[in-house]
Amino acid sequence: MDKIESLKQELKRINVEASGIRDLPAEKRAEFGRKINAKRQEVLARIAEIEKALLDVDAEPIDVTAWSGVNEPMLEFYPAEMGSAHPLMTELDRVTEIYQTMGFDVVESRQLDDEYHMFDTLNFAKEHPARDGYDTFRTEEGLIPPAHTSTMQHRVLKQFKSRLDEGREIAVVVPGRVFRNEDVDATHEHTFYQCEGVYVSRNCNMGQMLGILRDFFEKYYEQKLNIRTQPGYFPFTEPSLEFMIEKPKSLGGKKGDFLEMLGCGMIHPNVLKMAGIDPEVYHGFAWGGGIDRLVMLKYGLDDVRHFESGNLNFLREF
Ligand code: DAH
Repeated sequence: MDKIESLKQELKRINVEASGIRDLPAEKRAEFGRKINAKRQEVLARIAEIEKALLDVDAEPIDVTAWSGVNEPMLEFYPAEMGSAHPLMTELDRVTEIYQTMGFDVVESRQLDDEYHMFDTLNFAKEHPARDGYDTFRTEEGLIPPAHTSTMQHRVLKQFKSRLDEGREIAVVVPGRVFRNEDVDATHEHTFYQCEGVYVSRNCNMGQMLGILRDFFEKYYEQKLNIRTQPGYFPFTEPSLEFMIEKPKSLGGKKGDFLEMLGCGMIHPNVLKMAGIDPEVYHGFAWGGGIDRLVMLKYGLDDVRHFESGNLNFLREF
């Protein structure tokens, strides 16, 4: 297995080398691209070869539950060592780890939720058109696969409320899988990941929120970043902002290239009130943003559909 690991490392090195194409004059790029591609193909072929050999030797299928009837080919079993974490899971771990070092607790979201948590507790007025803005799926029973991790805000506020009575603050992040009923293309998936942040204390303010967010992005991309905000609208925050970072040069950005990374704002008093927290005494801020997009920028990926595709050539690059 070490051999595969070292080949994967080599693939990573080749990818880093490939990003150097940006610094080459136009006439040298085609040749450079061809060479890099040939190298990449060669390494991928060597990985495939080793994996095939592993299969031949290791694959002794002893699964008592597997169907092995007459005229039915046995399933092909892959040795567990051939598997690896999905890149989104690895990055999601990195994301929560950064927040944990800042003192945040982590609560996982769920994959089936209800109208109450998706809208009511988030200050969406009944019948308000903003409810349609989230392209929610619904089950026949009227349940909702959550369209954002904000569905967890109410639960988190109630679960951690006692901290406030102890003179502490609520500081929680919520990673989770979310679903939207929209057309799929290179930048839109029906299934993706978000991470939500919720912070409540007696005297927190927007400046602290922006500091936390800048800190997070700088740690994640391992460099200093310029940030920018613009006004946004979410029923559960007031005021609401869209938070942007300037695309770093090392990741192919030019000066003034700002990318929207997440939505955020000061938690609306009604949201605090519904969770039994007095908005006259406590204030909070919250944010939520896509993980897929974060990872795509980090690795220069151009198509979000890779993540859910199950394409082994793509997954092997990580
Ligand atoms: N849930 C929003 C979305 O998916 C993003 C968001 C905006 C989350 C503002 C928040 C927030 O917590 O305060 O579009």
